[in-house]
Amino acid sequence: MCGIVAYIGTKSARPILLEGLKRLEYRGYDSAGLAILNEELHVERTVGRVRVLEEKLKHAQGFDGTLGIAHTRWATHGEPADRNAHPHRDDPTKGHGIAIIHNGIIENHNTLKTYLQEKGHVFSSETDTEVLAHLIGEFYEDDLEKAVQSALREVTGAYAIAAICASEPGVLVIARKGSPLMVGVGKDEYIVASDSSAIVAHTTQAFNLDDYTVARLTRDSFRTTTLDNVPITPQIRELEYSLDQIELGDYSHYMLKEIFEQPQALRMTLKGRIDAREGQVVLGGIAEYARELVRARRIIFVGQGTALHAAMIGEYIMEDLAKIPTEVEFASEFRYRNPIIEDGTVMVAISQSGETADTIAALQEGKSRGALALGLVNVVGSTISRETDAGVYLRVGPEIGVASTKAFLGQVMVATLLATFIGRRRFLSADYVSNLLQSLEVIPDHIERVVQLSDEIRDITSKYIDRENWLFLGRGHNYPVALEGALKLKEISYIHAEGMPAAEMKHGPIALIDNGMPVVFVATKNSQYEKVISNIEEVRSRGGHILAVATEGDDEIGRLCEEVFYVPDVPEPLQPMVTVVPLQLLAYHAAVLRGKDVDKPRNLAKSVTVE
Ligand code: M6R
Repeated sequence: MCGIVAYIGTKSARPILLEGLKRLEYRGYDSAGLAILNEELHVERTVGRVRVLEEKLKHAQGFDGTLGIAHTRWATHGEPADRNAHPHRDDPTKGHGIAIIHNGIIENHNTLKTYLQEKGHVFSSETDTEVLAHLIGEFYEDDLEKAVQSALREVTGAYAIAAICASEPGVLVIARKGSPLMVGVGKDEYIVASDSSAIVAHTTQAFNLDDYTVARLTRDSFRTTTLDNVPITPQIRELEYSLDQIELGDYSHYMLKEIFEQPQALRMTLKGRIDAREGQVVLGGIAEYARELVRARRIIFVGQGTALHAAMIGEYIMEDLAKIPTEVEFASEFRYRNPIIEDGTVMVAISQSGETADTIAALQEGKSRGALALGLVNVVGSTISRETDAGVYLRVGPEIGVASTKAFLGQVMVATLLATFIGRRRFLSADYVSNLLQSLEVIPDHIERVVQLSDEIRDITSKYIDRENWLFLGRGHNYPVALEGALKLKEISYIHAEGMPAAEMKHGPIALIDNGMPVVFVATKNSQYEKVISNIEEVRSRGGHILAVATEGDDEIGRLCEEVFYVPDVPEPLQPMVTVVPLQLLAYHAAVLRGKDVDKPRNLAKSVTVE
């Protein structure tokens, strides 16, 4: 949801900002803008991608300078249009020359706007951000930092902002509440960004800004304070990603790169965490809470989208291995219910970004009612990782493609480790765990084989590429995989797809099936195999085209289905980690065959930091 980048230092800001915007573009891409402050304030903005802005800037004058801010937008208030693109300025009649960029939503912008209009302010956009820019201008008395603090004290909602002011050409002021913001610390320079991908090319030292914190950066120093000007000392740390990890390399899309990276990503997830011989799982991040976890009476997983599907698999595995009653909730629903949190409840938030607004809010709700809060998160230092009592990082590396792939596998893997960690301390024998971990250890090798099916999957997908409606069906652990297969297909190829439990089909959706409708079954050998075969027969007799993900060596299924993607045989609880991979590839190839922008699907953004 919008990418922010800002620079103050000794180098030319424009190329640094444009390069940063390209790295952050996966966060939102309906408009882009940039401001440079030298003797004057220069602002350029446009609807469209960063490349459109770059093109416009080639013909613009005055954009040389060592201080600037830039933004790539995912529209919330106001349609994608030049006038709504950031940076936004304060009231031109006041003559302060303030410009800001913003990620988040100012919830009381209507009230503030009315107040400002009564004072004579005239607005040129429909955005909440312009209201904030005017408010900062209203408070401005020769000190941008103070004006930002004062304005933000009046604001409710979420924000990560960067502000500059023509009367203070050596000052960059930033602030955050609820939307991510990091500061890269270089030599006589600072690079501020929504995430580390725009920073790593310049420095490996960085700090995260906490909620309700303002930072005033000059070329050679910075200070951070609360909104009431109380000093705070941030913790500078080493960035966890290197530049080559976020480069596309030889791949045509980040999504494909990330699918192929899955074996290696999972090896990192497992590294140092399992001892198959001893039947032990080592999770340093939650060790301190082992006693509470073993005694837990209820576990509630929360997440959204793909993370929710991982949570659903986590539910099966947790009940199976740890024998603790477990539920899964859409974070967005949980936060607005009146949830009952009894003693011994553990909330587990699953999130790649660690910044999903609904997931953060659900976690806060659970915590405030007394739950122990855990996070299974990929991005180190993200809000969820900081707001939870403890957690386990996914360690799958940066995920840039908007469609989540390797993070999903990391989430399922970490949920499995968590369940085994608890289960071993409750009922599971060392022998049982030892066998399970041996199977877990070789999952990356199995996935390595599955990704080799990519070309075959592309050829098969091409046969059905004109079909507008698809069904994905599975049972047990493979039911959430069916949901995930459908989500992947719709979000990047815009084909209508539904996922559901295979048995549910008979209760209505079977009416959709006609001659030629592709129906994808996740039909691996497991305790529900025979039932799934019956469901396949039901679809076959109604003329659907059946594609199946099946276990290697299963010849019977080949006689029932038009197309089969064979995956290695693994124990039932671990099957989702191999069965989902052909579905990721199917969605990828469908999107490419339809000529869609795989890494930046329409209307979407990588992390949803607004409600
Ligand atoms: O960063 P998170 O894991 O919290 O994101 C949750 C969802 O927004 C995300 O998984 C989304 O559904 C993906 N686009 C799916 O590919």
